[in-house]
Formats: sequence, structure tokens, C-alpha cells
Amino acid sequence: MAWPEELERVLLTQEQLAAKVAELAQRVSDDYAELSPVLIGILTGSFVFMSDLIRLLDFHLMVDFIAVSSYEEATVSSGKVRLLKDCSRDIAGRHVLLVEDIIDTGLTLAHIAKILRDRNPASLRICCLLDKAARREADIAPDYVGFEIPDEFVVGYGLDFAEKYRNLPYVGVLKEDAYRTWSSSMAEV
Ligand code: IMP
Repeated sequence: MAWPEELERVLLTQEQLAAKVAELAQRVSDDYAELSPVLIGILTGSFVFMSDLIRLLDFHLMVDFIAVSSYEEATVSSGKVRLLKDCSRDIAGRHVLLVEDIIDTGLTLAHIAKILRDRNPASLRICCLLDKAARREADIAPDYVGFEIPDEFVVGYGLDFAEKYRNLPYVGVLKEDAYRTWSSSMAEV
């Protein structure tokens, strides 16, 4: 794909992403190889990371997905989420690994983790590729983190900006004015 006008720079290359996913897969294998875990991806952003990750896991596992949306169509997470798609299996007594693309305030993930914990899994841990730790509001700490990144809006490798750029093979930083223009147009709706 030609270089998108709205992007400022590449933050993580395809090679850096592949190396990090392999590293995470090794850690997950060390911890879960004997546990037949259920990996639950949070749609939509996690699907690229999830598909690369599971193909490096050489043990029995199940894959499921959960989809949520913010109640408010806000540019900043409210943490109030509506379940759009629940996972399809009963997780009681199972070892669950939640797979997320990016944690920002952590409010969305905290809400999902609570919904799933109430179903009594044997364990529940979080694996996220990107972490904007400086912006954390919720009391939630991922167990496996790929990269801690600065407070900038990033796209690619599953992550979108107004549904664009999920198919970029790298993670790029959006130009601030593109994000600002979009934020103010959303605020007017
Ligand atoms: P949180 O509830 O603030 O942690 O928001 C997490 C969700 O916001 C992620 O699952 C993404 O969908 C979205 N998000 C947060 N930061 C970014 C970003 O830089 N690029 C794309 N999506 C983001």
C-alpha cells in the first residue's frame, strides 16, 4: 500500500512485530502448554495479533472472540461497554487468556475482565500487544505486554482510525491534525 497521507511515521516495523509476537508466544507456551487454554480475542483490533500468535503456539487450545462497543461514541474511552458479541463457550473452570491489541485507559478491558471473572474461569490473564501505560485509569495490569508505547494514536496491524488502516503490516503513528480534525467532528455529532 502507498504511504498513507494521514500517517506521520512508522512506530513498529513488520520485523519488530514478528520478533515480539514470537517472544510472547514463547512465554505463553511456557505457561499454558499443559492447560488447554481458551484464548479470547477482543474484536475487532486483536484479530491480526491473535492470528499471528496462535500459529506459534504448538499445543492444544481453543479460540474465541468477544466484541464490545462503548455506549458513548466518544473518542475517549468511557469504560462503559455494551456486549455486541459474547464468547461462544462456557469458560467456567477453564484457563482463559484474553488477547487485546492495545490498552489505553484500561477501562474497556477492566469491564470485560469483570464480566468474564464472574463466570468462574480457573484463571484469567491478559496478553496485550501495545500498552499506553501512562494513560492507565483502571486498576488493571496486563500479564504479557508486547511494547509499551507513548501516548500517540497508532494504527495498523489490526488497529484502525475510523475503520481505516487495519491492514497495514506495521504500526504507524497518525498525524496529530488528522486525529484532532476527526475528534472535533465526532464531538459535533
Ligand atoms: P481503553 O478502554 O481506553 O483502554 O481503550 C481501549 C480501546 O481503545 C482499544 O481496544 C482500541 O480499540 C482503542 N484505542 C485506544 N488507543 C488506540 C490507538 O492508539 N489506536 C487505535 N485504537 C486505539
